[in-house]
Amino acid sequence: MKNKSPKNLVVNVKNLEVFFKKKQIINNVSFQVYKGEIIGLFGISGAGKTTIIRVLTCQIKKKHWKGIVTVTNITPGKKQNNSKILEKIGYVPQLELLNLYYDLSPLVNVEIFASNYGIKKDNALKIARDLFKILDIPEDTWNNPLKNLSGGEKKRVSMAIGLIHKPSVLFLDEPTTGVDANKRYDILNYLKKLNRKLGTTMFIITHDLEAALVCDKTAILREGKLLEFDTPYKLISSLASDGQLVRFTIENLDEKIIKKIKQYPLCKDISRTGNNVIEVFIQDLEQNYSNLIEYIINNNIKIISMSRDIANFRRYFQLRIKEEEEKEFKEK
Ligand SMILES: Nc1ncnc2c1ncn2[C@@H]1O[C@H](COP(=O)(O)OP(=O)(O)OP(=O)(O)O)[C@@H](O)[C@H]1O
Ligand SMILES: [Mg+2]
Repeated sequence: MKNKSPKNLVVNVKNLEVFFKKKQIINNVSFQVYKGEIIGLFGISGAGKTTIIRVLTCQIKKKHWKGIVTVTNITPGKKQNNSKILEKIGYVPQLELLNLYYDLSPLVNVEIFASNYGIKKDNALKIARDLFKILDIPEDTWNNPLKNLSGGEKKRVSMAIGLIHKPSVLFLDEPTTGVDANKRYDILNYLKKLNRKLGTTMFIITHDLEAALVCDKTAILREGKLLEFDTPYKLISSLASDGQLVRFTIENLDEKIIKKIKQYPLCKDISRTGNNVIEVFIQDLEQNYSNLIEYIINNNIKIISMSRDIANFRRYFQLRIKEEEEKEFKEK
């Protein structure tokens, strides 16, 4: 698994461009995904995440896009190819879009969706039970009307349905949206568990930057362009001092103080992460850490507390988007 040999290439996208009525939505996007990888697609609203997934899942006509795209070695676009791809992929839509039968039980729901793939009832029920067990869907709900299940349980039933035909690739649109905060981690952990047990390659579209925790690779999209496609670890390490930062709580923090700290000659970036909290990135943090503190104190800025940490993916994402915006601003 996760072996980068050509035979393990599951999704190949080269120079993808998507146009709707002459408006370019996707601009020269390229990436490769190998068997068993979990890919997180991140980007602010309108970046083009859903559009890319719609190309890969055969939902956009070939006349709207250019470039090389293969999914399980087949090019989407032609009718006979699309049906071959659809046999090999699963798709879990957003919660509000789930087209489940709410008066029927989870098991009957699976049976109905399985019959679309020509899977016989006995076999469907066996696969369903196995998946429900992996997903911890309580056994006493399996035969009750789906409408009585909690939001998170419904979401997991929809994941089981997306996996009923044992697809090699599963696409999930916003799997943690509409699920309460603690349950978000559960959903992400279930996805990881399914990925490990079944070897399913996964694409997760999400606004939830913590989902990066379960991703092997993260894609960052902005205005139709792919800014980054790499492991979260590598991306974070590309920040100043390999992503190491100093977090300060500062008395009466304001923009003036932030500006002053920004003027520290080795300062690379500052993020305000709370009313009185900033995270500071400097060059060669190890050597210059005490010098930074001295600079702050000499400028009559009162430090209440401080600690060292490594940037998380959320911070990386914010800084990367900010960098791009500043670049664009300068070009204008
Ligand atoms: N069929 C279409 N016709 C015209 N424009 C479209 C079409 N589909 C998408 N777009 C435009 O393409 C851009 C990208 O849309 P897309 O749905 O891919 O974004 P997204 O990253 O998924 O955003 P969100 O996070 O809000 O779901 C948007 O500006 C959208 O208005
Ligand atoms: Mg979308």
